[in-house]
Amino acid sequence: AEVVIVESPAEAGALAADEIARLIIHRPDTVLGLATGSTPLPVYDALRDRLAGLDVSQVRGFALDEYVGIDPAHPESYRAVITREVVEPLGLDAARVQTPNGDLATIEHAGEDYERAIADAGGIDLQILGIGTSGHIGFNEPGSSFASRTRVKTLVEQTRRDNARFFASIDDVPMHCITQGLGTILEARHLVLLAFGAGKADAVARAVEGPVTSSLPGSAIQLHPHVTVIVDDAAASRLE
Ligand code: F6R
Repeated sequence: AEVVIVESPAEAGALAADEIARLIIHRPDTVLGLATGSTPLPVYDALRDRLAGLDVSQVRGFALDEYVGIDPAHPESYRAVITREVVEPLGLDAARVQTPNGDLATIEHAGEDYERAIADAGGIDLQILGIGTSGHIGFNEPGSSFASRTRVKTLVEQTRRDNARFFASIDDVPMHCITQGLGTILEARHLVLLAFGAGKADAVARAVEGPVTSSLPGSAIQLHPHVTVIVDDAAASRLE
């Protein structure tokens, strides 16, 4: 992977946003892979300026994951988060931006449906990734197969603790999610993984330099030919 160490999350956001804007100028129907959580927010912030004045009506997006059983209208459903933080501020066409469907009534075929939608869009051009302190990318927790496709997973306790900040309490954090698989993520044409802060240093070092192992799902990025890792000093502190 190409590792870029930056001074601040804002600088990381600017770098990633430049690359995304270049793609969209070159191909107005670019397919973006979207992450939620705190990490990508500086990217979406920087994109506002870069995309202003560009025609983004053909841009497509696929979120990495969604909670299972959450009301899509809940402010912390990833559908709601993507709408609020990406679709609305960037002026994207909501119908062209999808999140996996976490509705229990259709969950049995939701993974397959999502895979088909990504394939029908021609695959993901650039996938934005964060990394969890558990080493997950998407919600592929330790033990996930590198061949996995979009499917239901159980969130590990650490991830539910990490995400409790978005909910009233940890008990309100859903137990299950539906996430693009590692195999799905590895098919995106360019992976851009961002991480900030000392809390991510261990996961970053193991993902970038450690053994390629399903115990550290982020290490799957080492199998991909085009990866950019953008980290601040603190998140880079355990890299050799
Ligand atoms: C989000 C996702 C997760 C997060 C990771 C880091 O869609 O799939 O892998 O990227 O949990 O979360 P933050 O950025 O909140 O530290």
